[in-house]
Amino acid sequence: MEPAFSPTPDVVVLPSCEPVPGVGVLPVQAFLLRGASPVLVDTGLAREADAFIDALDMLVDVSRLSCILLTHEDADHAGALFPLLERAPHARLVTTPVGFGKLGSVQHLDPTRVRFVGPGARFEAGGRTFRALRPPMYDSPATLAFFEERQRWLFASDGFGAFVPELTERGEDVPLEAGLEGMSAFCRANSPWLMDVDPALYAEAVGTFRRLDADWIFASHLPPIRKAAFEPYLERAARLPKEGQLPLAV
Ligand SMILES: [Fe+2]
Ligand SMILES: [Fe+2]
Repeated sequence: MEPAFSPTPDVVVLPSCEPVPGVGVLPVQAFLLRGASPVLVDTGLAREADAFIDALDMLVDVSRLSCILLTHEDADHAGALFPLLERAPHARLVTTPVGFGKLGSVQHLDPTRVRFVGPGARFEAGGRTFRALRPPMYDSPATLAFFEERQRWLFASDGFGAFVPELTERGEDVPLEAGLEGMSAFCRANSPWLMDVDPALYAEAVGTFRRLDADWIFASHLPPIRKAAFEPYLERAARLPKEGQLPLAV
């Protein structure tokens, strides 16, 4: 784990990363939304679950967590989920029915603690209103992005993730060309079905995200970035189906 930081008041990033030999790193980030009823978006890497909970303990009374918004069940997003649900007995888990089913294969999950949502849902958590959406790139059918309507924060999950030369606190600090190439490589590797979709329909799906007009984009695998600097990433993302298959080992 790397030290937590706040790109904007009320959002704390809990960062880590995976080394990518010859390229740099893949950021791995969860987010704490401060407030009278704190909300967590994702729960870090499974292998760092203890360190993640220690870091969270430094920031907030974990027992007061009101909600955990889980973007999907992968081990880089749900790492500390089960111990956190024990530590935060009043916290509800927000996920899809598919996410619930997949998590249940790891450990029993009390369905009365789960709020089931799907793409298009609008719901309240921690005194905030969120919209759930399917991001344009994903590697699990359980994946949701979350858009906080009042402050226009977009939690994009694996969407728009990027290999970057080094971990930074701001997306604006990633050299643009490296960031765009890193996004293309990560997203084509993580969502290989991109090659099979209709490019025009796909560009429209990216356009739906652009029209959210998010002020901050908090992707799980891209340093936090603001609207203006995110525009080139949206433009590049819309072209990904035309970029072809990423060369992979055979
Ligand atoms: Fe994933
Ligand atoms: Fe991920």
